[in-house]
Amino acid sequence: MSYAHITGWGMAVPERVLSNADLERMVDTTAAWILERTGIHERRIARDGQTPSILGAEAAWKALKVAGLKPTDLDLIVCATSTPEHLFPATACLIQDRLGATKAGAFDLLAACTGFIYGLNMAAQAIRSGSIRSALVVGTETLSRFVNWQDRNTCILFGDGAGAFVLQAGDEPGGVLSAVLHSDGSGGGLLSLPAGGSRHPATDATVSAGMHFIHMDGKEVFRFATRVMAQATRESLAAAGLELGDIHWIVPHQANMRIIDAAARSLKLPLDRFIVNIEKYGNTSTASIPMAVCEAFEQGLLKAGNRIVLVGFGAGLTWGALTAEWTGPVGGRRVQPWAYRVFARVRSAFRRLSRHIEGILWGGKG
Ligand code: COA
Repeated sequence: MSYAHITGWGMAVPERVLSNADLERMVDTTAAWILERTGIHERRIARDGQTPSILGAEAAWKALKVAGLKPTDLDLIVCATSTPEHLFPATACLIQDRLGATKAGAFDLLAACTGFIYGLNMAAQAIRSGSIRSALVVGTETLSRFVNWQDRNTCILFGDGAGAFVLQAGDEPGGVLSAVLHSDGSGGGLLSLPAGGSRHPATDATVSAGMHFIHMDGKEVFRFATRVMAQATRESLAAAGLELGDIHWIVPHQANMRIIDAAARSLKLPLDRFIVNIEKYGNTSTASIPMAVCEAFEQGLLKAGNRIVLVGFGAGLTWGALTAEWTGPVGGRRVQPWAYRVFARVRSAFRRLSRHIEGILWGGKG
């Protein structure tokens, strides 16, 4: 049987920083209130044209470099995102094109902030079944495009960014050990982006009613989150045959420091066993867990052989946890991303041109 090892990781964030002090000048809030009630100090905001596929591909290049894998080696790309570039085509396909991942299947997965855990588990299952050898899982967001900057309940929470993992098949035991995934659609109204889908297509009325912004019942989401974080962690550990004492790090979805605090108390674990970077980025939805993992690795906290639990919750409602043994790079080839970037651009331009010429020759175009 194959095991699904996490062999590469990378993250990308926009350069522009929006601090609590900046928000103070935009809505009726204070920097101190935001920090005290959420743990967030600042967040990143994408510039015009800096889309989820651009951020996602940036994170993916770094993950491929760590793994020593060429984009053309990838069998599958799963993009978990709450802010896809379009309803279709999938953001995963845009990333596939940016990478020139010529043999990869690609699809988007919508499980809101739990999406990265869902995607990682789906990709790991595909590897363990033997049907594929390698996969890229990306969580990428530009939530700032859907935030109502006049709504102090939501605009203080969210930020933009991307994180990516490479998964590879291996014979050595380890990698993704277990996962539990849950949902409860009866709570769908607690956190939603009401319009823009087929139920409420975009009209002047939906735009003026603010239905293309994130709507949230913060208190209810808070209550739900504090209930499920510890529960999902325990379930995932039990499924892996492990106990809390066997785990080096818990990597929670970075939504609110008080939710992470509550999970720690419920699990009777000290906070220093949790990887936290919410103060720098706020809630980046699907990107928050892989971004926290990347920084933990860079800071030397997370090391090969460590066992971790990734745990999250989000709109849907969805929640889940995944237990893994951190493998680290398996000594792949030295990959020169710039060469593959050039290849991907040339390939994409050539594919467009040849499709156009075929259209003229055989499709009656021109
Ligand atoms: N600045 C200043 N005051 C604010 C404020 C802000 N940005 N937002 C709310 N308030 C006020 C409220 O109006 C309320 O005032 P009142 O007592 O006079 O009515 C008071 O602060 C307390 O509001 P409350 O909603 O109880 O605050 P809270 O402590 O629950 O914090 C959230 C609000 C949104 C930060 C918190 O509920 C939360 O994080 N919920 C979970 C959200 C989440 O994780 N979403 C993503 C899921 S993936």
